[in-house]
Amino acid sequence: MSRIAHPAGPRHADVLPADHPPAPPEDLNDLHPEIWPRSAVRHDGVLMLGGIDVRDLAAEYGTPVFVTDEEDVRSRAREYLEAFGADQAGEEGTGGVFYAAKAFCSRAILRWVHSEGLGVDVCTVGELEVALSAGVAPAMITMHGNNKLPSEIARALAAGVGHVVVDSYEEIARVAYLALEAGTRVRVLVRVTTGVEAHTHEFMATAHDDQKFGFSLASGAADEAVRRVLALPSLEFAGLHSHIGSQIFDTAGFEVAAHRVIELAARINAEHGVQVAELDLGGGFGIAYTPDDDPPDVKSLTSSLRSIVALQCAAYGLPIPRLTIEPGRAIVGPSTVTLYEVGTIKDVDGLRTYVSVDGGMSDNIRTALYDASYTCVLASRASAAPPMLSRVVGRHCESGDIVVRDCYLPADLAPGDLLAVAATGAYCRSMASNYNHLTKPGVVAVRNGVASEIVRRETLDDLLRLDVG
Ligand SMILES: Cc1ncc(COP(=O)(O)O)c(C=O)c1O
Repeated sequence: MSRIAHPAGPRHADVLPADHPPAPPEDLNDLHPEIWPRSAVRHDGVLMLGGIDVRDLAAEYGTPVFVTDEEDVRSRAREYLEAFGADQAGEEGTGGVFYAAKAFCSRAILRWVHSEGLGVDVCTVGELEVALSAGVAPAMITMHGNNKLPSEIARALAAGVGHVVVDSYEEIARVAYLALEAGTRVRVLVRVTTGVEAHTHEFMATAHDDQKFGFSLASGAADEAVRRVLALPSLEFAGLHSHIGSQIFDTAGFEVAAHRVIELAARINAEHGVQVAELDLGGGFGIAYTPDDDPPDVKSLTSSLRSIVALQCAAYGLPIPRLTIEPGRAIVGPSTVTLYEVGTIKDVDGLRTYVSVDGGMSDNIRTALYDASYTCVLASRASAAPPMLSRVVGRHCESGDIVVRDCYLPADLAPGDLLAVAATGAYCRSMASNYNHLTKPGVVAVRNGVASEIVRRETLDDLLRLDVG
């Protein structure tokens, strides 16, 4: 066995792949506080979450398993509301923060965030039903989706959702017709495509009109959409919506988007004499996945958004609209850790060590889909062994089945050890699949030393029951 340890002699430098990862952390046992759930600590070297030893969690619930720190989710929801929403109460009774359920949708999570005062943004009838069954007040639900089925719109109207975000001309007509049929008037936000595509550390104000969401500002489609909404009596024009991307660290993209949307608000005012009452700036607030990530804190991010909007409105002589946002990742992402059991450990001579775990791309597709980076540690014991350049892979029949592309794990790692991958609360369980007929992991909430399963682990019987041929 010739595991690549670091630091090493000259051989190490010779054999590192061209895209070699950054230097290993000084202490492999370190838990960077920005990356791990707020309750994460090591006790005698063992990772504890919500006051519970991860070995006990693995023994009780099996692996892989998502472990969610309830207080982490709640505290982030409160922080967003305090920083952004407390004075942005709308008619529907919520502050200005709507949790984007697509990041992770379960009754418990929606109950937690709702009880902290957040509304919920859903984009399918499935997410809507979870929200309703979690007891989220319908008026505090926003219905999204670029291709809402007529049956979904009808269900949303019957439930009495607070807002429907319209995304196409057909949909404006469809929502108006269904509202008329239901004898109701529905508040709609018009989703605007601002031409801004935001990335973590950069933004491009170029080609992003070339995508499926919203009404283009550049082409005049957004102006026309507002005209059509205003002409239909069963629709109440509630305001404008803009979402510029995800995992954004820099407010510059929001600045350009807000500028363009407020220009539209000024045109609406001039053409129709209508004030835009609400401006939803969407989600996309970034989180730390690795120590290299440095997201802005909630207070400075949100206060900068507010001042951007205030300045732009002042420039056009417009009153400041009610501001709302829809964070998903930033509420649940850092709260959750995936626990895996280590299986095969294979040294690929001269390159790195492949550490196979008992899950993979079926519980975390983000690495394969977005080339996402993650941080992982040996969780079930302390180790003083030197760092070993590793790649954590799953057990699917794909060479792209990678969970953590580059990381350092202790060189004495052995089958049966538990690995913890941090910041898997958003877009992991919600994007999970049954590829290779793996069952989806359960989700276990931890708080003050108490664990409870909030999403049951799937069983093979669950899968076989669906196979009715
Ligand atoms: C319209 C809308 N709002 C909110 C979000 C949530 O984004 P994030 O989880 O990055 O905050 C998304 C994500 O795709 C979105 O499309």
